[in-house]
Amino acid sequence: MILLALETSCDETSAAVVRDGIVLANVVSSQIKLHAEYGGVVPELAAREHLKNLLPVAQAALAEAAVSPQQLEAVAATQGPGLGIALLIGFKAAQSVAFALNKPFLGINHHEAHLYSPWIGGRPAAADFEKFQPNVSLIVSGGHTLLVLVSSELKHRVLGGTIDDAAGECFDKTGKLMGLAYPAGPVIDRLAEPGNPPAYDFPRPLLHDPTDDFSFSGLKTSVRYFIRDHPALLDDPRKVRDLCASVQAAIVEVLVKKTIRAAKREGVRCVTASGGVTCNRALRHELERACKKNGLVLRLAEKHLCTDNAAMIGILAERKFLANSPLPALAEEIRPGWELA
Ligand code: KG4
Ligand code: ZN
Repeated sequence: MILLALETSCDETSAAVVRDGIVLANVVSSQIKLHAEYGGVVPELAAREHLKNLLPVAQAALAEAAVSPQQLEAVAATQGPGLGIALLIGFKAAQSVAFALNKPFLGINHHEAHLYSPWIGGRPAAADFEKFQPNVSLIVSGGHTLLVLVSSELKHRVLGGTIDDAAGECFDKTGKLMGLAYPAGPVIDRLAEPGNPPAYDFPRPLLHDPTDDFSFSGLKTSVRYFIRDHPALLDDPRKVRDLCASVQAAIVEVLVKKTIRAAKREGVRCVTASGGVTCNRALRHELERACKKNGLVLRLAEKHLCTDNAAMIGILAERKFLANSPLPALAEEIRPGWELA
């Protein structure tokens, strides 16, 4: 089947065309530069940009896939969670297209879609996915940190999540304390590479807590106090690199150790990861190392599919369509607070 998917839950406007588990086109227009000067995503600006970019992005995806609107057999969009006024743009546009073409419409949970992004590649996404169920999946982005047990196709259970800041938020907020540009995650990644991770000792929050939950606000606070007590450090580029490496090591250690522990406890043989923070090279490296050591298969989303994209929305929508999951009526509304069950 051929399906068009739209994603506008935050600051990426994206459209994808999916056919039989293969992504024919996945066009993403990022607003990162626009929001950078405000130090975070401004919902009204995001919505206006989505309005401006959605049609060209969708047209580009259809052109790249060489698919005409009349060939579409279903239309999908992110229903939640996300910024309400941003979600509205893609969701209502997709509903309108489905209505005009008289085709089924699917509202998709953004986080559930992240569970499928590691499986998107050259082959039909479902082919590999089915081989590696059950798996434990880490979703780490600017807004979320989730550990999910994916037991089988379309079946999952949230094992844990953050009780305060998300991992990406911790990268961004500690980077801001160091005077780095937003989003600071990629900057810290780059600066940390030549840095010395054990240079400064920061807490590993909830590392030994028996739950699968995370907490990053205490780490952020300890970086704040550390910088307050050593202000001259920020004038020394070598020390800033060490600071980045030390903060990054603390975040990565917690994410990796808790993910591996959950995978071993749940008896799965595969671990996956997606979300913007999965672009982090230290996280990718440490997950690889830990999975290898523990005999686990690791499936990381490709970097361009870690951040928000419509391809993952389309892949999941197609699976739902084929599994005959109930289709929401055209009257269905966005669900900005729709957490994964
Ligand atoms: O998934 P995403 O694009 O958007 C949502 O938050 O939903 O993730 C963005 C987050 C930001 O916090 C950003 O700093 C972080 O992902 N990020 C990184 C890296 N690339 C993006 N964090 C650490 N290292 C990176 N290389
Ligand atoms: Zn996301």
